[in-house]
Amino acid sequence: MKSILDFARAKREAKPIVLIAAYDALMARLLAASEVDAILVGDSAAMVVHGFPSTIHATVEMMCTHTAAVRRGAPDRVVIADMPFLSVRLGRDEAVRAAGALMQAGATAVKIEGVTGQEEIISHLIHSGIPVMGHLGLTPQSVNQFGGYRVQGRTPAAAEQLKADALTLEKLGAFSLVLECVPAVLAADVSLALTMPTIGIGAGPQTDGQVLVLADLLGLDEVFRPKFVRHYLEGNELVLGAVNAFARDVRAARFPAREEVLA
Ligand code: KIV
Repeated sequence: MKSILDFARAKREAKPIVLIAAYDALMARLLAASEVDAILVGDSAAMVVHGFPSTIHATVEMMCTHTAAVRRGAPDRVVIADMPFLSVRLGRDEAVRAAGALMQAGATAVKIEGVTGQEEIISHLIHSGIPVMGHLGLTPQSVNQFGGYRVQGRTPAAAEQLKADALTLEKLGAFSLVLECVPAVLAADVSLALTMPTIGIGAGPQTDGQVLVLADLLGLDEVFRPKFVRHYLEGNELVLGAVNAFARDVRAARFPAREEVLA
């Protein structure tokens, strides 16, 4: 994809959108050479890269550093950066400053969790030239409000609210919407009701695209293994195997070999 306009085109042409969350230049370079459509600099960086227990610990500065690194690795790709915890809630000026910093760091667009109470700010950002991707369902920045990482939209009232929120985001001008951890029937219903594309994570097969965190699909984390993630690599075993092979070679004086010694 060359721009955010390609998201709407993909939905019109029924071409599933493929999004991957990554945080550094090396992985972005790999993704830039791949068949994925766009890169998400998710605030999951706070957990995956920095080891925090939740995304609440992500800051604007942290997200700008990762966004700039991803942009350097993938100069021509659509890069969407997460607006971190509370950065939309500190008022319009703060939100503009945070979104502006992410755009100047290299983002093509920003992603914002939730909509209620921040309609005016979302609209202002969009009218200021900052494309906005919405994020509904299990919005991880609200994990404490939800009492844990739980499937959202299970009751009829919650499902109705989520659909109404999705329609509000579309009306405000969002170009796409992440639906996280919601029942597949609800995700299908919302996707059908919207013109903008939906991108699911733990939301079943009938969204207009799918997103996964790169470290998850590579199977790098031996602890975090939710049902909705498919491991395309057993990265944890492979990396451990490679690192242990290096350690054994050093201890057995097999590394470096003659051809690995500089003259
Ligand atoms: O932070 C993130 O990586 C995300 C995706 C899981 C959608 O928001």
